[in-house]
Formats: sequence, structure tokens, C-alpha cells
Amino acid sequence: MSSTDNWDDESDPDALLPTADDWLRLAELRESFLAAEGGRAADSYWRSRRDFELYDATFAARIGWKWDAVLRELTLRGRVPSGATLVDWGCGTGIATRRVVASVPGIQHVHLCDRSKQATWFARDALATHHPKLKITLHAPAADEPIDILLASHVVGELAPEALEELLALAARARFVIFVEAGSRPVSRALGAVRERLLPSFDVLAPCTHSASCGLLAAGREQDWCHFFARPPAEAFTSAFWRRFSDELGIDLRALPYAFVALARRGEPLPPRGTRVLGRPRLLKGRALLECCDASGVATRTLFERDAKPLFKRLDRSGELLLADVRSEGERIVEFHSLAGD
Ligand SMILES: C[S@@+](CC[C@H](N)C(=O)[O-])C[C@H]1O[C@@H](n2cnc3c(N)ncnc32)[C@H](O)[C@@H]1O
Repeated sequence: MSSTDNWDDESDPDALLPTADDWLRLAELRESFLAAEGGRAADSYWRSRRDFELYDATFAARIGWKWDAVLRELTLRGRVPSGATLVDWGCGTGIATRRVVASVPGIQHVHLCDRSKQATWFARDALATHHPKLKITLHAPAADEPIDILLASHVVGELAPEALEELLALAARARFVIFVEAGSRPVSRALGAVRERLLPSFDVLAPCTHSASCGLLAAGREQDWCHFFARPPAEAFTSAFWRRFSDELGIDLRALPYAFVALARRGEPLPPRGTRVLGRPRLLKGRALLECCDASGVATRTLFERDAKPLFKRLDRSGELLLADVRSEGERIVEFHSLAGD
């Protein structure tokens, strides 16, 4: 890193308090992300260090809550990746790395990669504050350097085909890969296609309970997409800051949809185990419709309240990890043994 690769101003994280202009800028940034996802933006949307401060305190914080849900699921399933070298591709302010480093022990070297070098500076500074001993490099590893864990967060949807190939080439070298993305249909289906590309060399750690082709990419399921809902922390509903965020940007804080896939390089095959319930159960009177995914594909099953009273009460809780050994008779679920450690 050269001595010029740095900020020339001193930032004060306590000075964030967004002004009216800041809220407008956040709305503009959000538009830019959506435009980029729709293939309508070619260049970087970042303009200033203030952009990163605002983003990190708001959109990135929400992305952090999604990473919390993913890491919780991997932990509950006993499938947390490990390794010393981590690459965060399209790192932005580095929220994904910060969450992973906080819950995966043993990481020593982090590569922060982004087409915006200012983003990598911000990510580096934020990471180093809490982890001063980490080695941090602001570019991708050279061809002969190992990659233990590759992260990509909220970037797949905005990549041109060549950039996606670049990311997939890095993923192909990694021992573990985790992608966390927006829970929208186009982005989730794009992630499904990435999963298919990596399957020949990887097993799926989560959310799938199998490493077969994705049942939602099957013919006739074009309108469906794999996604989940994370549970925001209490502060999202109690703090004046988040209320203002919700009012200013028209974002419903209760809904935090995300899509993800975590993969491990093929080794000992992971035995397929259980059924993962996708999206949100559809609650009807006395019964619920569950989108059940397993190695045989995705099928809608009915859970009757009288068959599973305590479970039924939890079905409308956002962020509930529904992973179970399920036995069905026809479309009716007759046994649902949770594997989610609850
Ligand atoms: C929506 S932001 C997400 C940032 C971060 N990963 C997160 O989850 O908060 C997408 C990031 O990807 C970066 N990006 C977009 N296209 C890229 C490319 N072709 N190569 C590297 N980074 C790219 C952008 O500069 C931006 O920082």
C-alpha cells in the first residue's frame, strides 16, 4: 500500500447524525443500487467518505443483520467455515468481513477488494479499529496465494458478465464460499445460477439440505425464488434513528428478506439431512402452507395447527430457522422434528 492510499481527513464516527441532505443522499444511493441491480448503472456510485459513513450506519447495518442470520444458521447446523485467509469481494464498507471475523476464529489475513479503492480504505479502517492484529490487503490475492473463505455480499446482482466470471474464478480457488444477497427474485435466481456453476466442485453447507440442483430453478418454477427473512435486533424498532430511517426512505424495518448460499469444497460428502422451509409460511385458519425444500425439490406442504401447536405459534416470527426432519403423508405434514437446535 502506498502512503497516498489513505484518507486526508480525520473522521469522527460520533458525528454521523444525518442531515436533511444526508437522507436525500441515502435515497439517491439506494436508487443507484437498484439501478445497478437492473444493469442500468455502469460506474461507481460512491462519491465521498460521507457516503461510506452513511451507508455503513444504515444499509450496511441491515446487511449485517442478514449476515448474523446466516452465521447463526451455519452455527446451529455445525457448518461454520474455518481458515486463516479471507477475501471479501465487492467489500463496500466491509460489513460482511466484520461480521465473519467476529464469529469465525482463526482468520489472520483479509483481502478487501472493491472497484472503489475508497471503499477498501473505509473497510480497512473500520476493520482495523476492532481487529488491529489482522493483516489487511487491499486487493485480491495473487494466483498462487491460498483462499480459505471467499465472501461476496450484495454484489452479484450488479455485476457485468466479465466481472461475475472474475468473482467465480476466485470462488473456484476457495475452500469455502459464502454469498449473501438481497432477497429479490432476480438476485436470488442469479445466486441460484452461481450455485449451479460451483456445484461440481463444492458441497452446499446451507441453506439447502442437499447438494443437488436447486428445485426452484426447475422448469415451471420461474416465478419462484429462494429467500428467507432475518430478524432485525430490538433497536430497529425502538430507536429514533431507525424510525427516522424508515420514515425518510420508506423502508419497512420488519421485512429483511435475503438470499444466501454457503459452500464447502468437495471432500467427505455431507449426508443430505432434513428439509429447509423457504420464505415465510403462509398462515391460514388452523393450518399453514410451507414451501419445503429437500433433495427431491421444492413442494408446498400443509401443517395443521392441531398437529403441532407449539411450532405453529412460532411460524409467523420473522427470522425463525425452520429446518427439520419432516414426514409427510401426501401434502400433509405428519411429523416435524426440528433440527435447528431449539
Ligand atoms: C451494494 S455494495 C455492497 C457492499 C458490501 N459488500 C456490503 O454488503 O455492504 C456493492 C459493492 O460492490 C462493488 N462492486 C461493484 N462492481 C464491482 C466489480 N466489478 N469489481 C469489484 N467491486 C465491485 C461496489 O463498488 C460496491 O462497493
